[in-house]
Amino acid sequence: MDTMNTQYRTINACEIEMPGPSCLVIFGASGDLTRRKLMPALFRLFASGMLPERFFVLGTGRDRIGADQFRSTMLAAVKEALPGPFDRKAWDEFSARLYHTAFDYRDPEAYGPRLRDLLPRLENEHQTQGSRIFYLAVPPEVYEDIIRNLGAAGLAREGMGSSRIVIEKPFGRDLDSCRRLNRTVHEQFQERQIFRIDHYLAKETVQNILMFRFANSIFEPLWNRRYVDHVQITAAETLGVEHRAKYYESSGVLRDMFQNHVLQLLAIIAMEPPPAFEADLVRDEKAKVFRSLRPFTLDRLEDSVAIGQYDAGRIGASPVPGYREEEGVSGTSTTPTFAAMKVYIDNWRWNGVPFYLRSGKRLASRRTEISIHYKQVPHSMFPNSVGDPIDPNTLVLRVQPNEGMSLAYQVKLPGSKVCLNPVVMDYSYPTGAELTAYEWVVLDCMLGDHMLFTRQDGVEQTWSLLTPVIEKLEAMMTADRIPRYASGSAGPPEAARLLAQDKRQWRPL
Ligand code: BG6
Repeated sequence: MDTMNTQYRTINACEIEMPGPSCLVIFGASGDLTRRKLMPALFRLFASGMLPERFFVLGTGRDRIGADQFRSTMLAAVKEALPGPFDRKAWDEFSARLYHTAFDYRDPEAYGPRLRDLLPRLENEHQTQGSRIFYLAVPPEVYEDIIRNLGAAGLAREGMGSSRIVIEKPFGRDLDSCRRLNRTVHEQFQERQIFRIDHYLAKETVQNILMFRFANSIFEPLWNRRYVDHVQITAAETLGVEHRAKYYESSGVLRDMFQNHVLQLLAIIAMEPPPAFEADLVRDEKAKVFRSLRPFTLDRLEDSVAIGQYDAGRIGASPVPGYREEEGVSGTSTTPTFAAMKVYIDNWRWNGVPFYLRSGKRLASRRTEISIHYKQVPHSMFPNSVGDPIDPNTLVLRVQPNEGMSLAYQVKLPGSKVCLNPVVMDYSYPTGAELTAYEWVVLDCMLGDHMLFTRQDGVEQTWSLLTPVIEKLEAMMTADRIPRYASGSAGPPEAARLLAQDKRQWRPL
């Protein structure tokens, strides 16, 4: 990549590097992801001066539309995604960099000669010096065709500029398909050219966990089995399956949220400090966590995994339908929309400390957080104090919403002789200046920084932990056996039981 004209932009006294000239080829330009996430992210970056002047986007898709129609469709999409004041001047400049070409992903001719000839012409016009990013915003069924065809047309080769490929999740649907996809992509691209997205890693507050842990000296000495009783990770949503039934029916919560986002959060919380804040060093430490995860005991799965499916109920004041009543969902579906699990990390730091993970749709609140529950004091010297036994300290890292962190501890209640009062020290993360997850993803890919992307070993390790669990659950689950929970609740009773058997409770949702 050309970094000769490296510039920096200051945001809250931090510097963000300006990427060099580049083009972005989007496969799936008329899809949901492009309209809702990618194009608004690109436009916001452009409007705030974080994209280079020498930049253009080539959208590809089935529709036979020209640049003008593509630009007006994208304008509508961006306005919908970014309500509020609209910078028309910035849009005019940005949209002059948008192009579209009709494309059949499975047709090799579309890549070479067509795409191979079209790109240099646009690159010449925009002086982007041959650096290319191919972004797969298409259904996973066509990933392998696109990757092979790009390779066969010589478009994966790096010449004057870089050639990178961005792959959205799901990265495979089990260990075998993940390995096959990794093999296919490695036949054409090298690992340093591959950017596998996990948008949770690009959330500011997830990145903040690393700063919080490793830029403060007071927490790390307490971050281990000597002081921590257990850890809870929650990714709760109030939304249902929305219009994604086709995908979700063949996925379910374990593939959709656990294999990627939830296990990535776990790795960031549990990993050892890397020697430096560099992508591969951080990913090495995460891979060690994944390698240390204790495999589930499949014939006693109910001791460590609970699943459920949402029924009708209420989210706030509004009635909502059950999962099986959603459009496109089978009336006898056994797809889990909720899961909770207990995992152990078999290493020195975490030996014997349970990590309880849960995620689900249509729960009582939208909340992603990690809570570190410290041990009880070893001996209570305050007899008859109110709140006996004393509530242990809890450190909560809130990923969303109300981003921030809090620490609960005990103080003396003023005026009383011996009376303890739990109080909370709270910090709310300032919002407004932050980049959205997709803005980070685009920017870092253009910069060639892999910190926010997953690596081959990491995705294979997480699939290898979960594939046997998913297969076992799929084999034994029937329509009348899958536990149900009311929309707007905290999930099925089985989830509460998972902690109750260890004499613990989930934090309320
Ligand atoms: C996606 C899942 O990866 O993450 C969705 O496919 C889920 O099912 C979404 O709703 C949650 O992301 P966020 O950023 O809204 O927490």
